[in-house]
Amino acid sequence: MLSHTILKRALELERAIPAFNVPYLPMIEPVAEAIKREDTVAFVEVARPEWEKFESKSIEAVHEEFSRVADTEFVRLHLDHIPVIDEDNRRVDYLSLIKRAVDCGYHSVMVDGSRLPFDENVQATAEVVVLAHARGIPVEAELGAVLGHEATPQMSYEEILATRTGFTDPDEAERFVRETGCDWLSIAFGNIHGAISEALRHKQKVAATLDVNHLRQIRDRVGIPLVLHGGTGIATETLLDAVRNGIAKVNVGMDIRRVYEDHLESAGVEAAQQGVLERTRELLREHFRISGMSRDLLTDPA
Ligand code: 13P
Repeated sequence: MLSHTILKRALELERAIPAFNVPYLPMIEPVAEAIKREDTVAFVEVARPEWEKFESKSIEAVHEEFSRVADTEFVRLHLDHIPVIDEDNRRVDYLSLIKRAVDCGYHSVMVDGSRLPFDENVQATAEVVVLAHARGIPVEAELGAVLGHEATPQMSYEEILATRTGFTDPDEAERFVRETGCDWLSIAFGNIHGAISEALRHKQKVAATLDVNHLRQIRDRVGIPLVLHGGTGIATETLLDAVRNGIAKVNVGMDIRRVYEDHLESAGVEAAQQGVLERTRELLREHFRISGMSRDLLTDPA
């Protein structure tokens, strides 16, 4: 079954498919293994900062390791954040990166035009949709801006929330989905990314609160699976409330990265992999509550 159908099915079942970021190549094996052992369905994903600023090496290296260790009956490979303008305000040759992922066999891709004006985001996203759909590959896009990846944040989380900075506008979301043909939409409604800059990445992440009423307004306009970035540090009941109201994919990065890094420093790679295996299983079981759901998630909606 295509990744496309899995998210539609998740939306129907009011479940979310987690997508686990892998900033280090040895994380791929324990994440894939955890998903399989929990008899469920989820994504392994990699974003550009994870080979630029961490150690996942390249689009191709991640694909190669994924192909070696993952059972595609349970696990899919997604290309996360390929920004048009990156977190350090540099322009990125996004199209050629996405082409490389499509060519080597990723199951879905993301283009992130969230630092562009609306019309330019539409244009860049529509271009990627044409490229990916020609190969049967679904496209995730972002509208509004999920903050947190910037090296020098402009405001605190409390200020972001109070001013609703970056929040996705429901009217714009409706237009964006219609004009781009994207399959899944990453939106901002109180969520924030865990930091990735060298200076901030070791700090504790804030516990984000979500504006589920705002989410509902977007869900009612767009009718496609919505994506929650910044999955680390959200209370389980808050997360499940969002999932009952349109969120069908949740990205989790910092949570399992910190487990890997902490164990690596104190006890080496194997202990780090074991830590990731256990934490990923725990998240699938207790946080997402999708253990034992592979059959439900893989059955075509009638
Ligand atoms: P966290 O690191 O906050 O879990 O966010 C990950 C993410 O959204 C990657 O796209």
